[in-house]
Amino acid sequence: MDIKQSVEYIKTKINYEPEVGIILGSGLGDFADNINNSIEIDYADIPGFPQSTVVGHSGKLIFGDLEGKKVVAMKGRIHFYEGQGIDKTVYPTKVLCELGIKTLVVTNAAGGVNEEFTPGDIMIINDHINFASTNPLIGPNEDDKGPRFLDMTEAYSKDLRKIAKNVAKEVGLDVKEGVYMWFTGPCYETPSEVKLARILGADSVGMSTVPEVIIARHRGVKVLGFSCITNMASGILDQPLDHKEVIAVSDRIKDDFAKYVKETIKVM
Ligand code: HPA
Repeated sequence: MDIKQSVEYIKTKINYEPEVGIILGSGLGDFADNINNSIEIDYADIPGFPQSTVVGHSGKLIFGDLEGKKVVAMKGRIHFYEGQGIDKTVYPTKVLCELGIKTLVVTNAAGGVNEEFTPGDIMIINDHINFASTNPLIGPNEDDKGPRFLDMTEAYSKDLRKIAKNVAKEVGLDVKEGVYMWFTGPCYETPSEVKLARILGADSVGMSTVPEVIIARHRGVKVLGFSCITNMASGILDQPLDHKEVIAVSDRIKDDFAKYVKETIKVM
């Protein structure tokens, strides 16, 4: 695994430094259609780059222009539950950071734990709880990248959250705000685990995002995070959870979501 090799290959295709990296969550990949002058690179063509094993996660980096900014979007992320290990999970984020991004916008599909939420809501992530018993910084510290003991007081940039809230107001979107809790998956949580999540202060639960955010922060990259609440978490409604439902809801809100995120990127 050699990040340098991946970065060198990408630099043979792209002759600018992207300013913003965007990780697109389940069902939100179409956001990349908003990127102009796009250059797409398949993960499979990048030396050392891991491949997602999840059906429907196509696996492409999409470079281009979005609202006056040079961006790179990741369509298809590696989830820890795929079993490729934490290093491969965060490999793409390390590559984005190495390419020079200053800001990372992370998005995910998540279960609503806060009972005031409704499927279809968008939640600005204001903090997270790492409940997965792993951390991508375990191992020798890369001192040239960041500190051994990383401060996580403001994992999700206060300034960017404020901007995102203002944009929501301007576009008349009732955006929520809250804490995202990372469970490894791949099974959905039990009702008792969801109760636990709520007691611990979580507003949404999901199977991604936290490892990528830790790596970005370690490298001094600012983070803005959004959860699409695709379903109420297990046990809240008297019905089982189904991945199809998650995809159907993210499909329903993806256009509004894209408009909102685009507008936020424009002013940030
Ligand atoms: N739990 C975990 N991950 C998820 C959920 C959920 O309820 N919905 C979408 N991703």
